[in-house]
Amino acid sequence: MTEFNVSAHLQEVLASFSLCNDARFKAIMSAVVRHLHACITEVKLRPDEWKDAIEFLTETGHACTEKRQEFILLSDLLGLSTLTIGINQQRGDDCLEETVEGPYYWEGAAELPSGADISEGVKGFKTYYYGRVIDGSGAPIANALLDVWSGDGEGNYDMQLPGQQEMMARGKFRTNTLGEYGFWSIKPSYYPIPSDGPAGHMQRKLGRHPNRPGHIHFKLSADGYVPVNTQLFIANGPYLESDCVFGVKPGLIVDYVEHPAGVAPDGREMSKPFSSVPFDFRLTAIQHSNARTSYEDR
Ligand code: BEZ
Ligand code: FE
Repeated sequence: MTEFNVSAHLQEVLASFSLCNDARFKAIMSAVVRHLHACITEVKLRPDEWKDAIEFLTETGHACTEKRQEFILLSDLLGLSTLTIGINQQRGDDCLEETVEGPYYWEGAAELPSGADISEGVKGFKTYYYGRVIDGSGAPIANALLDVWSGDGEGNYDMQLPGQQEMMARGKFRTNTLGEYGFWSIKPSYYPIPSDGPAGHMQRKLGRHPNRPGHIHFKLSADGYVPVNTQLFIANGPYLESDCVFGVKPGLIVDYVEHPAGVAPDGREMSKPFSSVPFDFRLTAIQHSNARTSYEDR
């Protein structure tokens, strides 16, 4: 029996993966082990602290329900989701930037006609969102799908409202032959992420606030183009500079143009003031055979 040696121990663990025949898995697990060993060595982790860490991960698992994914929250708060997106985004010139999906996507929103209003029963300032989905050269992409969701003007998503069984502020829209889309919703407020679980406890202990700036989510897809999961952020709003999940990108910050009562950009007569958000989404054509072509490929 030899005396304990940090680097010999690491090599022994790595060597134990030698029969693994999944090269990618082996590479990932080897990196995980190398970095975890280095971390534990660097901070000279004590056994009671290791026990706390295991307890924390156990609680994180227990906090997950059908409507809550605490591990995604943890990944978002530590910047891991944004890092994974950043190193994988396939960039074309000026292509639409991707950002975190977050835990409030609800599959199965209805596909609605262009110009529909998804703000029925939703608290918030009426807002018209419109523009085009275009390719790298500015040409329109017809029949692109925009899957849209947001919280309300008070910072709550439908799935957070007690007793709310139906979807609110969600819908799917397709572009017309000119690549145009348009729909009515509300101006979403900034809001705190769920911070009553282990991820929130960690974020408080780190001295951080739990807020995200006001934003609306979009999943965009079109045949032959790289799908993008993104958000538009309200210019000049609170927390733009300190989004707790690091999701803000400069190209995704938009002005909410305020209008008095009158005719909206879609010709609708508005009896009250409203805002509008013009924005063109630029998608990148799929170039190689192993590119992700739909969200189902994930
Ligand atoms: C959201 O945008 O809804 C969100 C993203 C990450 C963590 C929590 C919420
Ligand atoms: Fe959100």
